[in-house]
Amino acid sequence: MEIKIAQDIFSLNQAFTDWMKTILSQQEEMTLALSGGSTPKSLFDYWAEHHTTDIDWKKIKFFWSDERCVPPTDNESNYKMTKEHLFDRIAIPEEHIFRIYGENDPEREAKRYAEVLQREVRTVKGIPSFDILMLGMGEDGHTASIFPHQLYLWDTEELCVVGIHPQTGQKRISLSGKTINAAQNVAFLVAGEAKADKVKEIIESKETAQKRYPAAKVCPTSGNLIWFMDREAAKKLAAGSYSF
Ligand code: 6PG
Repeated sequence: MEIKIAQDIFSLNQAFTDWMKTILSQQEEMTLALSGGSTPKSLFDYWAEHHTTDIDWKKIKFFWSDERCVPPTDNESNYKMTKEHLFDRIAIPEEHIFRIYGENDPEREAKRYAEVLQREVRTVKGIPSFDILMLGMGEDGHTASIFPHQLYLWDTEELCVVGIHPQTGQKRISLSGKTINAAQNVAFLVAGEAKADKVKEIIESKETAQKRYPAAKVCPTSGNLIWFMDREAAKKLAAGSYSF
């Protein structure tokens, strides 16, 4: 596992983008699974403001790690946020955008999206293996849309699952642990002091954290796991134990 700690959110976005560009430069095309929530919003704005021309966006096929079970026009939709902050500002071929249909029946959509992944993403040992899978982490230690109260969903045989937000009861489609850990490269993007406790627990007490938090169970078979964090999210990590 690698940890990169940036001074601020701009440098965080810059570090992630430089890392992504290196991987992209080594291949003809790339499958990229986006996470939802607010952290990626600033990354998409950063791409639209600083990287419209130096990245060959046509090489990338876009997927999601999870989606809220709402229509694509709903303000809760991860697709809507991505469209407004990225796709409306950088030309991406429509055929390279593989949206999760939040408006569909959740159980049926989990099955449909699993079939999309099987068809569109290179498989390793029969499991779709994203070139890059972006993840966020909630203050409760959830990732994608697998929450601590449904930790059992992580180990399902399915490629996609239906998770439920513990506070709102909102249903969500999420990649399962099987699909997440099959990715070639997994990158957490975590920012803000509110995440610092969980970051410390998950990175410094991984074994106990794995019994409680889905984010602690991210352990790609490839071994390629990298945490991109700002200083606020990393502030409780043992001083000097990670490269700044
Ligand atoms: C979502 C996410 C979720 C998110 C975390 C962190 O759909 O909300 O995929 O897992 O990554 O909740 O969200 P923030 O970036 O908003 O803190």
